[in-house]
Amino acid sequence: MTKTLENLRSQRWFAADNMRAFAHRQRTQQTGYRREEFMGKPVIGIINTWSDISTCHKHLRERAQNVREGIIRAGGFPLELPAMSLGEVMVKPTTMLYRNFLAMEVEELLRSHPIDGAILMGGCDKTTPGLLMGAFSMNVPAIYIPAGATLSGWFKGQKIGTGTHTRKFWDEKRAGNLSEQDWLRLESSMTRSHGTCNTMGTASTMTAIAEALGMTLPGACTIPAADSAHPRMCSLAGERIVQMVWEDLKPSDIVNEAAFDNALITYMAMGGSTNAAVHLPAMAGRLGISLPLERLDYWSQRIPVIANLMPSGSYLMEDLFYAGGLPALMSRLAGYLNLEQPTVNGRTLGSNLEDAEIYNDDVIRSLDNPITSQGTLAVLKGNLSPTGAVLKPSAATPALLKHRGQALVFENHAEMNARIDDPALEVDASTVLVLKNAGPQGGPGMPEWGGLPIPKKLLQQGVRDMVRISDARMSGTHFGTCVLHVTPESYIGGPLALVQTGDWIELDVDARRLHLCVDDDELARRKAAWQPPQAHYERGYGAMFSRHVTQADQGCDFDFLQGNAPVSEPEIF
Ligand code: FES
Ligand code: MG
Repeated sequence: MTKTLENLRSQRWFAADNMRAFAHRQRTQQTGYRREEFMGKPVIGIINTWSDISTCHKHLRERAQNVREGIIRAGGFPLELPAMSLGEVMVKPTTMLYRNFLAMEVEELLRSHPIDGAILMGGCDKTTPGLLMGAFSMNVPAIYIPAGATLSGWFKGQKIGTGTHTRKFWDEKRAGNLSEQDWLRLESSMTRSHGTCNTMGTASTMTAIAEALGMTLPGACTIPAADSAHPRMCSLAGERIVQMVWEDLKPSDIVNEAAFDNALITYMAMGGSTNAAVHLPAMAGRLGISLPLERLDYWSQRIPVIANLMPSGSYLMEDLFYAGGLPALMSRLAGYLNLEQPTVNGRTLGSNLEDAEIYNDDVIRSLDNPITSQGTLAVLKGNLSPTGAVLKPSAATPALLKHRGQALVFENHAEMNARIDDPALEVDASTVLVLKNAGPQGGPGMPEWGGLPIPKKLLQQGVRDMVRISDARMSGTHFGTCVLHVTPESYIGGPLALVQTGDWIELDVDARRLHLCVDDDELARRKAAWQPPQAHYERGYGAMFSRHVTQADQGCDFDFLQGNAPVSEPEIF
């Protein structure tokens, strides 16, 4: 034990013999707690991103109850603090606009209240990085509880995954291959329980990264939301966080450069979402760790995709759980991982993996029998993306990974939507679709528009993939040869802003190259004539976002939130 009662943070609120501390005790009793329920105990904040409209987190309100029970059993005092929910499906224009908002809220909720340790409850895409970034910055002991994936979807005897199949069925419907009746049936049968997307989308990627960093109990991220193991994991986390407060085991003691390497190795083996390429540098930045995109590419070139999960493979998160869960998958990677890393349960990663077993070699492939030899993330540079762009080779068409084609440019998303299905659109399968003004400032919020739809007339000809280029993100559940996160973004005058319809573009993923075949003099002329688009916001959160958001290769954090410079504790008076 390194913490004593006297030096718990919460004691500054509750222990003194003065009028202010009296008021804190009096008001806590006002809420129905007896003095002995909270005095002399670590106070644990349960940061819960439950809300009625957050479809993936519907069960987290009940689960907070399991956490509470664990905390009380271990001698702590639980306080549930709701935080911005960020359900991926309903929040517009994009949850990414609000990831930093959630991170700020988490940090300040923890700082401004008498909190000694935190349970972070989330799972839907941006909630995981948002919760972790806030907790890293505040650096009190914390355990992350992933919401768990929704059960596998089934339709007419076929296993279907969230997101991945939505797009596939929509394309079939637009191509005229799916009836109205089936489309209606799908609406009620695709998602069978609460929980996050069951494919290897952003949610599953980020919860696995949280576990690989050491921030969850072992195995937590692969427990299905509807499984009774989930509430048991929650109550165990409640017990454990109290112990962690006494041990003073903080995120900065757990998450270091070696932990990020473990996260990257796991991410690559999972065939995880490109969105992690934005969240990881942002998360690392909160601990003062620099994580350049090159580090992601380095591991992508060394670690094959061994998790056979959609969209790269054919199974779902529930299958990964039955195959032994994330610890089983990580045991396959033991030769690469830093096994001495500490984790929230007080044991090293290596010791947590000791009893891991693999029950299905098709779901968790061996390193020499990967589901694809293509890597999870390629970082592309060239005159079109001087500071980097990304592409997910494992979810792309191999034949398109080296491609030369002529650009068809859409100046923004609205124009693209209006024109994409026009029968007169001049486009063929070799065309490179280019979308501008969809980056962090341009979208705004860097929406998941990067998987541009295939033009209807090409769908009807049987085309299902094309090279697409944008400064947007793409849903981790989607498939396609999509160059994403082009930096600097077009809205601030990056080279993407200068592309014109008819320009030739060369993509060479093996060479990590993205080239606009227009000479420098012509580009300089276009740049001189370029006019910045109108600002999206005059006031409000959006105005602050636009002023302070960094580019995708820097993680899109706010400049003033980066780094680990100390912030003083609030004065109590
Ligand atoms: Fe919440 Fe996919 S919509 S995880
Ligand atoms: Mg998603």
